[in-house]
Amino acid sequence: MNEILIRGGTVVTAEGRECADLLCRDGLIVAVGANLTASAGAQVIDAGGCFVMPGGVDPHTHMQLPMMGTVVADDFYTGTAAAAAGGTTTILDFVGAERGQPPLEALQVWRGKAAKAAIDYGFHMTVSWWGPRFSEEMTALVRDHGLTSFKFFLAYKGGLMLPDEDLIAGFQRCRELGALPQVHAENGDLIAYLQAKMRAEGLNSPLGHVLSRPPQCEGEATVRAITIAETVGVPLYVVHVSAAEAARAIAQARGRGVKVIGETLPGFLAIDDSVYRHPDFDFAAGHVMSPPYRPREHQQALWQAVQDGTLSTTGTDHCCFTKAQKRLGEGDFTRIPNGCGGVEDRLHVLWQLGVNGGRISPEQFVALTSTNAARSFNLWPRKGGLEIGGDADVIVLDPAKTKKLSAATQHQNTDFSVWEGMEVRGVVLHTFSRGAHVWADGDLRAQSGDGRYVARAPFGHPYQGQTR
Ligand code: URP
Ligand code: ZN
Ligand code: ZN
Repeated sequence: MNEILIRGGTVVTAEGRECADLLCRDGLIVAVGANLTASAGAQVIDAGGCFVMPGGVDPHTHMQLPMMGTVVADDFYTGTAAAAAGGTTTILDFVGAERGQPPLEALQVWRGKAAKAAIDYGFHMTVSWWGPRFSEEMTALVRDHGLTSFKFFLAYKGGLMLPDEDLIAGFQRCRELGALPQVHAENGDLIAYLQAKMRAEGLNSPLGHVLSRPPQCEGEATVRAITIAETVGVPLYVVHVSAAEAARAIAQARGRGVKVIGETLPGFLAIDDSVYRHPDFDFAAGHVMSPPYRPREHQQALWQAVQDGTLSTTGTDHCCFTKAQKRLGEGDFTRIPNGCGGVEDRLHVLWQLGVNGGRISPEQFVALTSTNAARSFNLWPRKGGLEIGGDADVIVLDPAKTKKLSAATQHQNTDFSVWEGMEVRGVVLHTFSRGAHVWADGDLRAQSGDGRYVARAPFGHPYQGQTR
């Protein structure tokens, strides 16, 4: 028997907080309450002065993803170990089929890569092409493999972008199967037009990236995706919302009763588009991701949307590249591999900017970093809370401890950080993943292969109240 008693902390869930002990046994939470006792030989953690919270659920990562002529720098071990160091205990990663590759085959490729994971993981599937075979195999993905969410791209013309008729067909299939469609909402045709325009005008630097992806492209695509979902009658999850226009579209749809869940990223709440004007290519290219960081007024609008529940989950879109990889796009911004890291930083940044910044309570922090994603993707109550019988995915955060975020000290497998130099107060001291002590006050003990695949059932929380 393996017991852990976390004693004397403030136990926080999305619903409230109490001064209590928390007892875990054999990888599960077995009790939360006052004056708990454990058997002889149990591991006892003194959490006095600390917050005891559910481990983070990051609903949006890309480990070891082949992209734009290279491969994401973090594999499933380095990426999930870094996640554990930052208090995240579950990730949902995107399986990416090659164009024409059967999605079930792609799933097997991802299962192979993810065998190295150190924390638990589930999968979404990128709908990278559409046709009868894709549609047919979705049945087995959902019913036999517990892969119940599918991401559709309205951007990346000539690549992942799908026309509206495929979006309609794909959303319908999701509805039949009880799966959740997700969208990368940017207008790919307009972006292609603007990219060509920038290059014709001789603008080849990373600045061209942001100028070719203006907020209205995200706003239009968000409205279009919502319109399709509303018409088809399926819930919708909008990933990586960066623009006020997109948040507004989600708020309006939710206001008229459409089931739309909005996700944002810590970077979109804090970093503005001035990063693309930086004279150092490595710095500017290090921030190239899609959608891009926005002018300052968007961060204000996104915080409001977080506070009023329009945006209810935070992911990282962890898709990190080294400076050398980003240099593939020197002289042509359209060739800079798109993506930034952050799976290790999400909780620290949101505690600092959100809780210390007076914008959210610790309960909202738990909801935003863990519970709402677990509910959206049907991992609840096993993940995303501190329920009796749930997995012992638990963190202990010391609100008085400080640290400086830096590429030099991070565990993410890259030499760049969009959070370079940021001081945070509130540090994850301990991370338990199904009861395994994977992060012990600076000691990273996460083991390759200890993570387990989490299958999810269809017709989850977003379908509640929906007629099948
Ligand atoms: O630039 C990004 N976001 N890279 C990852 C792929 C995606 O679109 O989420
Ligand atoms: Zn995307
Ligand atoms: Zn992504």
